Amino acid sequence: MTGKKRDSLEPVRWKNGVLEAIDTTRLPSRLVYVRMRTVDQVCSAIRSMKVRGAPLIGVVGAYGLVLAAMSVRGGDLEHARSRLRKSADTLVLTRPTGVNLRWAVERVFKASSRARSVKSLSDELRREADMILREELEAAHKIGRFGAALIEDEDTVLTHCNAGSLATAGYGTALAVVRSAVEEGKRVSVIATETRPLLQGSRLTAFELARDGIPVRVICDSAAAQLMAQGVVDKVVVGADRILGTGHVTNKIGTLPIALGAKFCGVPFYVAAPVSTLDLVTDASQVVIEERDQQEVLSVGGKRFSPRNVGALNPAFDITPPELVTGIVTDSGVVRQPLAENIQKMFG
Ligand code: MRU
Repeated sequence: MTGKKRDSLEPVRWKNGVLEAIDTTRLPSRLVYVRMRTVDQVCSAIRSMKVRGAPLIGVVGAYGLVLAAMSVRGGDLEHARSRLRKSADTLVLTRPTGVNLRWAVERVFKASSRARSVKSLSDELRREADMILREELEAAHKIGRFGAALIEDEDTVLTHCNAGSLATAGYGTALAVVRSAVEEGKRVSVIATETRPLLQGSRLTAFELARDGIPVRVICDSAAAQLMAQGVVDKVVVGADRILGTGHVTNKIGTLPIALGAKFCGVPFYVAAPVSTLDLVTDASQVVIEERDQQEVLSVGGKRFSPRNVGALNPAFDITPPELVTGIVTDSGVVRQPLAENIQKMFG
């Protein structure tokens, strides 16, 4: 079945000096925007995951620094830049694992050196943020085109978390691959893991694929291996929050067991991400795995299921080693094995 055309989602937009982003905590029941006028509001939207997904928080963080620049009045440029530095440092710590946020915020901060006066600062930063938004959207479409070549007619693709429009400037990464294959006329259906604890798969991936008319079924996270063993899954395609020069892939917690299952069952395991997700300097042992609030695990939808006297562990990401990854689909092309060697050749 070819997906029917709908207006595409606009996950983030700048409107008359206000940053607006789809509040993903309200989905699927309500499609509403969170409006941000200050850098503190941006930090809190990212921390609370109203806005989430590595490429999208990069774009939102970039505009966060624009909002910080807009609040600087008076003083000299040096003073203004030192205030921006503080805001940049606060922004990048809101979600420490993904690399896009740091990449985008630092890029916008660097643009502040081009400003000739405090008055022109926010316009200069805004130009850079607009450029990042445009480039990231273009990157998503390129990922889609490169990735679609890996998908065959009638494939069933398993994906984890949400690596779609709602995690990017639009169109997605893993879901860009699916969308692009569908646009080429291939009949593709998707299995979305529900993605505990915050259910990005059953709430967001299911929402945006169903909206596009692409067949999608939700499974419990723990059903992935069984379905791969049964031969129901043709390919796994997931997103990423940080890809190292060695080919290690940091992504939503639960990606590693899917990759292990895929290797055991002989199912190709692809990762789709823009070049802004690459981190060629950090070692796997140094990647900070964000540990989120225990309540996310102990409760579902605000209702506690675990006994009162029990604690939880809540690592938000895991690291999949390169030997489990068949290939990485980027906006510059598909990186195949051996990953470290080919990442170096393409991006080093
Ligand atoms: O914690 P989240 O919801 O921000 O995690 C998102 C993911 O892990 C995605 O797979 C990743 O950011 C890639 S988004 C295109």
